[in-house]
Amino acid sequence: MKIKTSTTKSVFFCQSCGSKSFKWLGKCPACGEWNTFAEELIEQRSLKDSRASLQNNSVPQSINAIIADEKERLKTGVSEVDRVLGGGIVNGSAILIGGEPGIGKSTLLLQIMQNMAANNNAVLYVSGEESAKQIKLRGERIGANSDNLLVFIETDVDSIIRQIAKISPAVVVIDSIQTIYTNDLNSAPGSISQIREASDKLIVTAKKTGVPLFFVGHVTKDGSIAGPKVLEHMVDTVLYFEGDANNVYRIVRSMKNRFGPTNEIGVFEMQSHGLKEISNPSDIFLAQRPKHATGSVVVPSIEGTRPILLELQALVSRSNFGISKRTAIGFDPNRASLLVAVLDKFGNVGLGNHDIFINVAGGIKVTETAADLGIISALLSSFLEREIESRTALFGEVGLSGEVRGVSQTEMRIKEASRMGFSRCIIPKTKEKIPHISGVELIRIESISELSTYCFA
Ligand code: TYD
Ligand code: MG
Repeated sequence: MKIKTSTTKSVFFCQSCGSKSFKWLGKCPACGEWNTFAEELIEQRSLKDSRASLQNNSVPQSINAIIADEKERLKTGVSEVDRVLGGGIVNGSAILIGGEPGIGKSTLLLQIMQNMAANNNAVLYVSGEESAKQIKLRGERIGANSDNLLVFIETDVDSIIRQIAKISPAVVVIDSIQTIYTNDLNSAPGSISQIREASDKLIVTAKKTGVPLFFVGHVTKDGSIAGPKVLEHMVDTVLYFEGDANNVYRIVRSMKNRFGPTNEIGVFEMQSHGLKEISNPSDIFLAQRPKHATGSVVVPSIEGTRPILLELQALVSRSNFGISKRTAIGFDPNRASLLVAVLDKFGNVGLGNHDIFINVAGGIKVTETAADLGIISALLSSFLEREIESRTALFGEVGLSGEVRGVSQTEMRIKEASRMGFSRCIIPKTKEKIPHISGVELIRIESISELSTYCFA
């Protein structure tokens, strides 16, 4: 523990959002969290020093004079990751990977490092969490055996930056950013100001040298990446492992990407020798779909640039106690309540006094409104105990008057459904002209009241 001196001052930071206060507060005025303020001693010096160095020879220049080699992306050798990144790693970019403990962050990054090292690139894996032996053991499982793969156990950011300058690796992994500290600050590693300062120094190094960085970020109990929100703003790309570590399938999603599409997902299976890519995700998300079950429906969802078929499930059962329970996993609970209310009012079913559970199979999260019609039909199917017609897939946004509204990429969704053997699609009735797709019968509806005519077996 550092001692407070004349050059240090005590500042309180919210450990959830990073907002600053000169006195302790019970509730953070910025993010509303309780009991998150912690004292940190910071040096009385300008924090802009390191940032200033990015602009050392800065003079205005014509946009035509700037050479951007963005097209020359480095391939990670894991094609699912390359796609999620938007076609590979951009030089000098900083990529943050978050996810629950044990979900596979270190495994995925070590696999990427091994692939790149085997491709004749020197790569640097910095760990502040594990011993060299532990990394070696993981490496043995996934077959990491390249001489070019350098492992560096270090938590001092300046020492890491010196090694980056010396080795000039093709890519650097920092596992994890919460363990890295700088001697410039007095506060403890893992505190907001340390994370911010250490990552700032590393990002500046990446921009200056062109060496791309991967940061591993821990997540807090509510699932966001621990540390200041500014960390997410500072990096170019944020990837996130979705779901929990008990699921065999691991989904990596791009939450932010300055160099590619967001919401793009890569799907992996955790095996005994590392993560294996799944190139046809619709297959696995539907693989365990029960036959002739009620409350299960298939929706073609667009994740980033790809259509993927997902199974949505609902269970509606009479509540035994006065208060009915409503739970949604993989789907926004607020939107779920809204859809339940719409179905209750316009679907001619009484859902009061019923417990309602909604789940997206396979541990994936759906954020698209195109899944609305799927949720409504799954609820209806479970409530009426009627099975959805087995060759039918459906999608569409549902409005507050029970109307079914158009969504984007209609054709792409229908094609994916057809590819996976679905020959009937229930879709919104809009003015949009949809080209004929052979072997698929299209049923266009305007309101959820028409659903029951078409969706059941
Ligand atoms: P790890 O990559 O250490 O997770 P994180 O860095 O996100 O905390 O996690 C791995 C989990 O995966 C751990 O429970 C062991 C398991 N695992 C396998 O099943 N197969 C493997 O080949 C490896 C390396 C790990
Ligand atoms: Mg790890």
